[in-house]
Amino acid sequence: MSSSSSSDNLSEVDTSNLPSHVAIIMDGNGRWAKKHRLSRIQGHEKGSDAVRAVVRTCREIGVSHLTLYAFSTENWQRPKKEVDALMALLNKFLRSEQKEMQEKNIRLNVIGQIERLPQDVRRELNKVMTLTEKNNALYLHLALSYGGRAEIVRMVQELIKKCKMGQIQPEAINEQLINEHLYTQGIPDPDLLIRTSGEMRISNFLLWQIAYTELYITPTLWPDFDKQEFLQILKDYQRRERRFGRV
Ligand code: FPP
Repeated sequence: MSSSSSSDNLSEVDTSNLPSHVAIIMDGNGRWAKKHRLSRIQGHEKGSDAVRAVVRTCREIGVSHLTLYAFSTENWQRPKKEVDALMALLNKFLRSEQKEMQEKNIRLNVIGQIERLPQDVRRELNKVMTLTEKNNALYLHLALSYGGRAEIVRMVQELIKKCKMGQIQPEAINEQLINEHLYTQGIPDPDLLIRTSGEMRISNFLLWQIAYTELYITPTLWPDFDKQEFLQILKDYQRRERRFGRV
């Protein structure tokens, strides 16, 4: 079954067997820049073009949730100039994409420590999240100032607070209750996690949520990641047998 007959291989992807949730660790902007003798910031700029393309493909093909690791809790330790440039790029992306997000029924969501982001970015994020809150064709989750361990610490603190206040009993804590206290509350676990630039690590991304996620590591540097490769990865995913620990 296909949703398109275009020449870009969309027709070869089985749209009845798509991952509902794709998560991506977008890595390699710096190496791409070095390879092209450009600044790291120019690498991130090219990386935001790849973001635009992957969002469009998810919407076109019918993936319901896309989570992008755009800024980790560890990324605050990068030089101020680079952090500022990433925040400015994010702001630019939000301003330039909101019209298309609205037209294409895409809803924006943020996971992470939104309170640590600069005020102008927070304002723009809140504006686009409100603008798109009724949209439901694709949920775009941006992981910003996100860390899996920090998310777990926050969840534990919230649960302990509720226990102390007598709102829940410790014995009532189960996987569902934990899910309900994570940033990703209400979002299905990722079916597929893609990491670009060939590093074989998880880098503190969605630690709890990826328990049964299929992993795909590609050597491609994020700015070079295109629709063609994304569709190839979806086809690879469709060939896998997911057993969730069963035989
Ligand atoms: C990793 O590359 C990438 C990041 C830390 C930031 C990701 C940001 C973007 C793709 C652009 C802006 C995002 C949006 C949503 C518009 P790296 O710098 O770690 O690369 P390296 O490992 O090669 O140095």
